[in-house]
Amino acid sequence: MDTLVMDKTIAQKINDLLGRMSLDQKIGQMTQTERLAITPKEVKEYHIGSVLSGGGSVPGDNQPADWIKMNDEYWAASMEEDEQHLAIPIIYGVDAIHGHNNVLGATIFPHNIGLGAANDPELIERIAKATAREILSTGVEWTFAPTLAVARNNHWGRTYESYAESPEIVQSYAGRFVKGLQNSLGRDSVVACVKHWVGDGGTSYGVDQGDTEISDDEMSEIHISPYYPALAEGVLTVMVSFNSWNGKKCHGNKYLLTEVLKEELEFEGFIISDWDGIDYIDEDYSETVARGINAGIDMFMVSEKWREFIAHAKNHVLSGRVSMERIDDAVKRILYVKLMYGLFDRPRPAERYWSKNPDFGTSHNRAIAREAVRKSLVLLKNENDILPLSKNARIIVAGKNADNRGYQCGGFTIAWQGITDDNESADSDNKGGPIIMDYNSSSAQIQKGSIVGGTSIWEGIKAVAPNATLNLNGTAADPNLHDVGIVVIGETPYAEGMGDIRDGDYQIEETSEKIEGFLKVLAPYGHSTVLNELHPEDLRTIQHITDKGIPAIVVLVSGRTLIIKKELELSSAFVAAWLPGSEGQGIADVLFGDYDFQGKLSFTWQKHRDENYIKGDSPYEPLFPYGYGLSYNG
Ligand code: BGC
Repeated sequence: MDTLVMDKTIAQKINDLLGRMSLDQKIGQMTQTERLAITPKEVKEYHIGSVLSGGGSVPGDNQPADWIKMNDEYWAASMEEDEQHLAIPIIYGVDAIHGHNNVLGATIFPHNIGLGAANDPELIERIAKATAREILSTGVEWTFAPTLAVARNNHWGRTYESYAESPEIVQSYAGRFVKGLQNSLGRDSVVACVKHWVGDGGTSYGVDQGDTEISDDEMSEIHISPYYPALAEGVLTVMVSFNSWNGKKCHGNKYLLTEVLKEELEFEGFIISDWDGIDYIDEDYSETVARGINAGIDMFMVSEKWREFIAHAKNHVLSGRVSMERIDDAVKRILYVKLMYGLFDRPRPAERYWSKNPDFGTSHNRAIAREAVRKSLVLLKNENDILPLSKNARIIVAGKNADNRGYQCGGFTIAWQGITDDNESADSDNKGGPIIMDYNSSSAQIQKGSIVGGTSIWEGIKAVAPNATLNLNGTAADPNLHDVGIVVIGETPYAEGMGDIRDGDYQIEETSEKIEGFLKVLAPYGHSTVLNELHPEDLRTIQHITDKGIPAIVVLVSGRTLIIKKELELSSAFVAAWLPGSEGQGIADVLFGDYDFQGKLSFTWQKHRDENYIKGDSPYEPLFPYGYGLSYNG
């Protein structure tokens, strides 16, 4: 690892540890597995370097104390020293991608698409700092965030994890988010992980894990450029992307991982694979392990079959297929991160500062999230200045997304695919709840229930407008009783490939033919980006109100821009609220004029289903261009 420039004492510590480690210990450090697949005892026995929680995989009753206890046990096992085992503290990783979103009672911030519309780097750093403290309050030290994807096609189910379709905003956020999380690597820091390296947002047709068919120049200007500020800020880990680049899987791509990231860009930390990401390189698992290690991956996220991974890796070293230098490079990098973060000097998780002085789901953090909600809202239409509304207006609040904190939080909240609130009212005529599943049924741990804390959009309205009433399907609309309707419509939660929109199978067939290796395909969210085809019940709800001559303010909860022709025509005002998270009150703050709208589209709003205009295209004839957004004061 000659490219690494580091503190002399850290270098000495690394060399000292490395000199005392057996091959088993080294390969163990390179292994990360899911909490459900490993016990603390096995962590010690196999010298495991890291454990993670997949989306929705949570200990005990999913309270901060349960998390602290769990990580404390893994940590203690990793630190027991004897002749077979050298004490090296484990690092525990989670997807805290919009707040510490797996944990009950956490502050859930808007998903990245909303934060992109806010275009406020200073706010981003505060969000990252608050998120870091919530993570630390559960005894955890590493998050797989921020996502630096530049999503180029709204059919992609992960569009909401992207700040913008164009790299500028992503660049301006990347360093600030890393800075807020890693916080000078002091007491208040967690280890950040930028992902997914690289080109995740550029796949053809927006197919999740698909093929990004672009030139070198485009790759570097659009998808690699957001990583520069994160690297400059000293981000300690980078996650590899599931996608391929011109047919070649990133997970087996030595050029992208070693030559570009480690050598050219002088990345000093470690590279982690995505969830079983090497599995799709080749049919033969042994082959896949060799190619992943030789491409430059340092730590392997292996959800379950970590024993096989370890056995293959060891065989490859013994047979010479994988060099000892490569293993040492990987282990040095892992030790570098653990030492830089001060993990060896931190007490056990239960004894750490924030475990004892939790800052979790607090009003301070929720206030930051509420501010983020306000700033993320984009006003697309405001006929005759119907907004802001008077707090005394007689309002009928309708729509399946009006009183469901699960829906407004979206995917990666409590469960991988998100949740639907338990208290969802029975008179809602939605098409059914979100699909909740794990990648692999044997490791599935489904979380049901509600978002704890925060307010639904309806609760936020009710808190300031005493004459507002809730009627989810809008059939109670009555011009004698209601001056105006607020109809909150939109998508139900999804994550990753299960959020994809595909109108047929040809996108998958084409992609599979082009890539070397395999494509993991999940059932898509729908077959059309036309909102009225995805959620016809939403249009009916609006009509129940407008048919009676009552004007409708439409608030759209969604993880992407959708074709909204009919809904927009019927509305008097239209607000894109993205996936605002737990603090629904932020929406009432703006609808009633306590604050002005300031969000601007960071994604182009398409007019027709078959279009995919992106900022900078020529011609460029979308419904609303990138940067669009109305406000009360001009
Ligand atoms: C996702 C990553 C995530 C990982 C761990 C993967 O499926 O692509 O973004 O960090 O799972 O949960």
